[in-house]
Amino acid sequence: MSGEGPAQPMTASKSPGLTGIAAVPGDKSISHRALIFGAMSLGVTQITGLLEGQDVLDTAKAMRAFGAGVTQAGQGAWTVQGVGVGGFTEPADVIDCGNSGTGVRLVMGTMATSALTATFTGDASLRKRPMGRVTDPLSLFGTRAYGRQGGRLPMTVVGAKDAKGIRYALPVASAQVKSAILLAGLNAEGETVVVEKEATRDHSERMLVGFGAALHVEKSGMGQIITLQGRPTLRAQSVAVPRDPSSAAFPTCAALIVEGSDIMVPGVSQNLTRNGLYVTLSEMGALIDFLNPREEGGEPVADLRVRFSGNMTGIEVPPERAPSMIDEYPILSVVASFSSGKTVMRGVKELRVKESDRIDAMARGLEACGVTVEEDEDTLIVHGMGAGGMPGGAVAKTHLDHRIAMSFLIAGMASKKPISVDDASPIVTSFPIFEGLMTGLGAVLRRDAGQAAT
Ligand code: S3P
Repeated sequence: MSGEGPAQPMTASKSPGLTGIAAVPGDKSISHRALIFGAMSLGVTQITGLLEGQDVLDTAKAMRAFGAGVTQAGQGAWTVQGVGVGGFTEPADVIDCGNSGTGVRLVMGTMATSALTATFTGDASLRKRPMGRVTDPLSLFGTRAYGRQGGRLPMTVVGAKDAKGIRYALPVASAQVKSAILLAGLNAEGETVVVEKEATRDHSERMLVGFGAALHVEKSGMGQIITLQGRPTLRAQSVAVPRDPSSAAFPTCAALIVEGSDIMVPGVSQNLTRNGLYVTLSEMGALIDFLNPREEGGEPVADLRVRFSGNMTGIEVPPERAPSMIDEYPILSVVASFSSGKTVMRGVKELRVKESDRIDAMARGLEACGVTVEEDEDTLIVHGMGAGGMPGGAVAKTHLDHRIAMSFLIAGMASKKPISVDDASPIVTSFPIFEGLMTGLGAVLRRDAGQAAT
């Protein structure tokens, strides 16, 4: 698990043009949900293409702790023997969700309306992140939560007995919060209604319908209203997890900034709640062809041909696009550094409560690499230095954040001097094959001598 083993410093150096096929692993969001919905169903759910990253493995462990049977049948192939809605048993020990905000928040929601108690913890990054955004709405079901100051883990959650459905308007655009409420609503009597002003990723809604819940979504002037009928019988399904567009972002952006690159990235989700980065890159002048559009695992996907793009220009990213690319701002800020002009990212304060404060982590790291950056609480502005223009020659701090680590390693493949990260070990949480996949495309990556974690 990241944050507990020794730090793994790594260095990326100017790389020759990247070529080949970047087949990234399964989607992290859908993988967590496949395990959780499988556990809440009757029968055996068969999953293929599951992301075997540490975040998802921790959710698998959590589902076992609540009584589901979760077994690996082969690479990416897993089965879940479900216990049905309301069938959870009390875990015998603390649930450790490692680095995963999605894992802990969704699992808290799932147990919140069962009459049992569970204590949650995580690594040093997760223990800093706010849980009140989930436990506040869960308290409307009657769930009680006792954590550290500021609603931090470790936290004990006492599930509500005989819960009734609630109505909740999301104060932040968060699919994690939305999903936690819907999961809690499964074992509550009557309707649970979630109102969201801006659409966030809709995997929970799609999968709930797929597993047999009665759920409908109504668009209104206020955004969208999601209504779930409580106490359904969910039935086991076969789930083919599509590739992760947030992981695909890394080889895609690497090819855009490394001179001479021409790669294929197959099966990238075009789900409108996930594809904001790809829209943004196209607007910046990125040479990306969207080929062979089709459906895979219930998601619209396309194969991307991505070529080095020496003439990208900065843009103002529309703030309302943020939910559809929330995890992609770190790597976008790298591409922005290799573009000309300013890239303005507003409405991004949610980045401050991710695995790290991603505005701060990117701003400090890019500055160390010679890039001019402006920031305020809700904004990140990167002054581009053009293709090949970033000086590099720095060590970026990754703060136990996989996406910060991968972003700076990609930057180092195109900067004038190499870029190191102090700890690449968190990459296993979401993209365990990152190093092999990138070097297979021709990227120059080197593991440096390790040191004890601090
Ligand atoms: C996720 C939702 C997003 C995202 C996270 C995965 C999910 O978080 O950052 O990596 O699977 O629901 P928020 O919904 O809190 O923005």
